[in-house]
Amino acid sequence: MPRLRPWADATAAEMAAGFAAAGARWRSVLAWDTGDLWPALERARTTGRLDGLVRRDASGAMSGWTYYVGRDGDLLCGALSAATPDDTAALVDAVLATPAAAAASRTVVFAFSDAPALDDVLRARSFVSDPYHYLVRSLPTGARRGNAGRAWDVRDLDATAELLRVCYGAHDPVRPFVPHGRPSEWRQYAGDLVMGQGCGRFRPTLSLAVPGEDGVLDAIALVTDLGEGTAHLAQLAVRPSVRGAGLGATLVTSVEAQCAAAGFARLSLLVSESNRGARRLYARAGFSERAHFTCAARPERRLTSPALATSQATGA
Ligand SMILES: CC(C)(COP(=O)(O)OP(=O)(O)OC[C@H]1O[C@@H](n2cnc3c(N)ncnc32)[C@H](O)[C@@H]1OP(=O)(O)O)[C@@H](O)C(=O)NCCC(=O)NCCS
Repeated sequence: MPRLRPWADATAAEMAAGFAAAGARWRSVLAWDTGDLWPALERARTTGRLDGLVRRDASGAMSGWTYYVGRDGDLLCGALSAATPDDTAALVDAVLATPAAAAASRTVVFAFSDAPALDDVLRARSFVSDPYHYLVRSLPTGARRGNAGRAWDVRDLDATAELLRVCYGAHDPVRPFVPHGRPSEWRQYAGDLVMGQGCGRFRPTLSLAVPGEDGVLDAIALVTDLGEGTAHLAQLAVRPSVRGAGLGATLVTSVEAQCAAAGFARLSLLVSESNRGARRLYARAGFSERAHFTCAARPERRLTSPALATSQATGA
């Protein structure tokens, strides 16, 4: 009989094989080197700092795994690997049955995953989906430096978080990060992006900031290095009051020129299905789709406050 166990019970060799298969997929499909990520995950697994599950087939061999983490009231599932649709469904159901899911106000799956039938499994369990397109554009060799903004500086961190808050709005039920749009969540998000490695290594000298009046930023383009010759446009944001004048497109052109001059072969980015304006901008700039990331969320039944209960009941 197939069975599910906490991933703490798996051997290091089993997990190493699972991580190596996932890493090979990221490299070949996305041209994204996640080599630093898997040892960090393994340390978090073996020290009990990160929960996960493994599924075994009838012979006892590992046929799938996933991990999940609580954050800002969400339960976030960050990867899911499975051999069959049954493995996918069993792992999703097991995550939803954890005490961590029962304590969360929302469960979110955000993962590059080719787990069989993942999107169908999530839909059947009332998840609302807004997939992210992974777009790539080859960069010309010998491009010249662009002309928008100035290099991003670490002193721009607070202004960047504030600009992202203004640009993305307060709350989005499917957004995989910053669930409530609080200023503290945006600061954490911006800090993770420039100091963490979840989305590649941040490259301040390839990133751009466009100062506005009174110390605010009007626009930013944040760039990371994914290895494998891939630069990644991790964020592009233009203040609503100066949109529609070509600043977003100019920032993309400038980032392309800088990344090409720095020796990168391609520029990639993630954009959600529902973000039609940004997708048009990227299509015109010559990006094309290479893969998609599953992004799906479902509110959990636990109501944390009368205000939330009211907003959930009214759909506000
Ligand atoms: C996406 C975003 C960065 C675009 O910024 P922008 O400065 O408005 O971009 P542009 O002006 O270059 O292009 C936007 C539109 O203005 C139009 N435009 C460009 N130059 C123009 C001009 N001189 N006059 C009028 N309109 C113009 C473009 O044709 C485009 O039209 P479209 O809506 O049909 O695509 C901005 O909307 C934003 O910050 N959104 C929220 C954050 C976000 O979603 N970021 C992307 C994450 S992947």
